[in-house]
Amino acid sequence: MTFKELAAARYSVKNYTDQPVEEEKLQEILKVAGIAPTARNAQAIRIYVLKSEAAMEKAKAVTPCIFGAPICLMLAYNEEEVFFYPDEDNGVNSGAEDCSIVATHIMFEAVEQGLGTCWVNKFSPSEAKRVFELPEKEHVVLFMPLGYASEKGKPLPKHTQKKPLSDIVIEL
Ligand SMILES: Cc1cc2nc3c(=O)[nH]c(=O)nc-3n(C[C@H](O)[C@H](O)[C@H](O)COP(=O)(O)O)c2cc1C
Repeated sequence: MTFKELAAARYSVKNYTDQPVEEEKLQEILKVAGIAPTARNAQAIRIYVLKSEAAMEKAKAVTPCIFGAPICLMLAYNEEEVFFYPDEDNGVNSGAEDCSIVATHIMFEAVEQGLGTCWVNKFSPSEAKRVFELPEKEHVVLFMPLGYASEKGKPLPKHTQKKPLSDIVIEL
């Protein structure tokens, strides 16, 4: 698949079969995650692979958006390793950006592996941190269920409802 084909094939899977994700496929996905760019190449990101029943139960307690996936990734960053925007005192940093680029790599490599994902931010980061007993310096940005789409896990109608480019592209 070309990148354009991958990008066109990706959609948010909101219903999964219970078919396990093969370890080799997971490892391929994690390898592609690992080559994503990060601010200053500091790699402040942490990818938690939620595989055990206990970990998946915790994920389901934190968000309603696991959708029956057999496994889930939880992406976080360490605040001591991120890049802080210069001349700002509002604490804005690259943590969410770093996690987002890594998550995007994961989404597309998942498609290449025949798997589906869904980006999930419907959760309380502080609750996720507490439930998973993360170090104080780590902050959860997103969950990403991973697995095989079920028959019901088809693209939602809004998948193709896009604003015209002229509404979102501004030439200066
Ligand atoms: C930053 C972000 C957060 C999202 N959070 C959720 C979520 O919490 N729950 C959910 O069901 N879908 C979530 N989605 C999926 C979007 O609803 C979905 O990407 C959008 O409707 C477009 O559909 P598509 O991904 O199939 O193209 C999220 C997507 C993004 C990019």
